[in-house]
Amino acid sequence: MNLILFGPPGVGKGTQGARLANDFDMAHLAMGDILRAAVRDETPAGLEAKQYMDAGQLVPDAVVVAMIEETIMAGNGHDFLLDGFPRNVSQAEALDEMLARHSLKIGRIVFMDAPKESLLKRLCGRLICRACGFGFHRQYSPPLKSGCCDRCGGELYQRDDDREDVIANRLEVYHEQTAPLLDFYRHREGFTKIDAGGEMDAVYAALKEAVNG
Ligand code: AP5
Repeated sequence: MNLILFGPPGVGKGTQGARLANDFDMAHLAMGDILRAAVRDETPAGLEAKQYMDAGQLVPDAVVVAMIEETIMAGNGHDFLLDGFPRNVSQAEALDEMLARHSLKIGRIVFMDAPKESLLKRLCGRLICRACGFGFHRQYSPPLKSGCCDRCGGELYQRDDDREDVIANRLEVYHEQTAPLLDFYRHREGFTKIDAGGEMDAVYAALKEAVNG
């Protein structure tokens, strides 16, 4: 089964999506991670995307639609979980068209939501391993040794767009452009909304229940 996870920045799409993809044997296709890899590798798409990401704005639709199609196709039919795509109605329409063209279907669409206060706390405290990409949080899931990944010993860093001023832009962009996806998807078969404001394992249990239907 293929799945879409969407919701505001910091709601837990990346953390919970990785766990879910692992448990359900799906490829975790996180648009933000795909873009950050392109920026790091200085590809033409990455060079174009960087300025938008640094400002907390959406990267142009044509760029992300082409990247996600390439990534889905590279999976050769393996089930996938989309995290961070689509992010506006025109991307959702492009996804519908792309899926129809490749005879693919989405089985579940899960909207995760949490209060703004929680989102801010989660984003401001997030730390990521430079080597393996595993996520930590200064307060909620701190590493055993400060600045060092528990899994691989890599260096932990804070994302450039997790600065307070950029977070404010990202939340504004979310309300203007991504929140309308709720109306686009709410009547689709397989749509569920979950409360993602609780602690990690409780949110994961709700997500798993939503996926198992
Ligand atoms: P992206 O990387 O997708 O960022 P985002 O959507 O803003 O989401 P985040 O990664 O910030 O949050 P998350 O929901 O994954 O939360 P996480 O699990 O990490 O996109 C970055 C940028 O790329 C965008 O701003 C845009 O420029 C561009 N972009 C991406 N997709 C695009 C698209 N489709 N179109 C155009 N541009 C696009 O959790 C956050 C923290 O909270 C972690 O530390 C975690 O440990 C902690 N946490 C999570 N859940 C809990 C919990 N229940 N309790 C306590 N702590 C928790």
